[in-house]
Amino acid sequence: MFIRDAWYIAAWRNEIGRTPQARKYCGEPVVLFRREDGAAVALEDRCCHRHLPLSKGRLVGDVLQCGYHGLEFDATGACVRVPGQTRVPPGAQVKSYPVVERDGLVWIWIGDPARADPAAIPDYHWIEDPAWSAVGGSIPVNAHYMLWIDNLMDLTHTTYVHATTLGADAICRAPIKTERSDKWIRITRWILNDEPGIYWRSALGKTGPCDRWQIMDYFLPSHTLLDVGVAPAGSGAPGGDRSHGVEARVCISLTPIDETTSCYHWSFARNFRRGDAAADQKTQDSIGRAYIEDRDVIEAQQRSLDRAPPGFKMIDLNADAGQLAVRRLYEAALARQTAAGARGPIAAE
Ligand code: FES
Ligand SMILES: [Fe+2]
Repeated sequence: MFIRDAWYIAAWRNEIGRTPQARKYCGEPVVLFRREDGAAVALEDRCCHRHLPLSKGRLVGDVLQCGYHGLEFDATGACVRVPGQTRVPPGAQVKSYPVVERDGLVWIWIGDPARADPAAIPDYHWIEDPAWSAVGGSIPVNAHYMLWIDNLMDLTHTTYVHATTLGADAICRAPIKTERSDKWIRITRWILNDEPGIYWRSALGKTGPCDRWQIMDYFLPSHTLLDVGVAPAGSGAPGGDRSHGVEARVCISLTPIDETTSCYHWSFARNFRRGDAAADQKTQDSIGRAYIEDRDVIEAQQRSLDRAPPGFKMIDLNADAGQLAVRRLYEAALARQTAAGARGPIAAE
């Protein structure tokens, strides 16, 4: 089950072109392509005639021609031509999905198009902001997407899963503050006067104890933003003066492909060594490697959950406070969707 009235990342902007591409979101087959004017289009990937995937067809100008009997569909999903007959039969239509391009990403709305408000798309402007340098990527994962949201909302795993990259023992010892609304959860952790992990030590380029912060925001249904950085201990970062430190904004969003597979989209935008190709590569490699470590843990966790006996229980720890708050928000949104049936918006905006 998915929260349908929500924006999800469909692809990076440069992944979509004039060759129709088959994708799947929330269990629905979708074909992506660009019109001649460059606008991105998302249609149901299933011809209304004999159900060949339209991604097997080809673009003729701005219409997508089915590869089986040649029916042609415009960007609204309407069939506009049937070879061999002048009349287009009633109902010759496929679903068209709202799409919005923003911050280097193409977002898709799976639910009721009438409720697709672009203002509800998360602010990920750091990806293309010239004041920051961003790298990123996408990682398919054989797991339910909320398992990776759980992972993001409890960064104590960093000490163990990313021991050789991002890990620092003090993350486990630092207390968290959890703030919540009916649309988002924020978890704040400050680690004062301690040793940062290898990546951040190198980014700061200074020795000595540091003040470090991790401020993680969650937005329904599966979007997060991490404000993270380090500064020399006592230089004023906890009070708001980050001018002596280095920081990043990490935009991460999970797109459900179906109930058992998901796609992890990440971008890491830093405000240090901007425009430095070597720093880009180092960040891409080390952060990308850390996320592969996460993926391996999450896939193993999913396999273990799949084998769990009926009625099994998990135990909760203090560090799970943010994760549990997110799960409550998410479950409440799902419950509202179920109660509303086909009608009424849910609070995914
Ligand atoms: S299946 Fe598409 S035209 Fe027949
Ligand atoms: Fe991680």
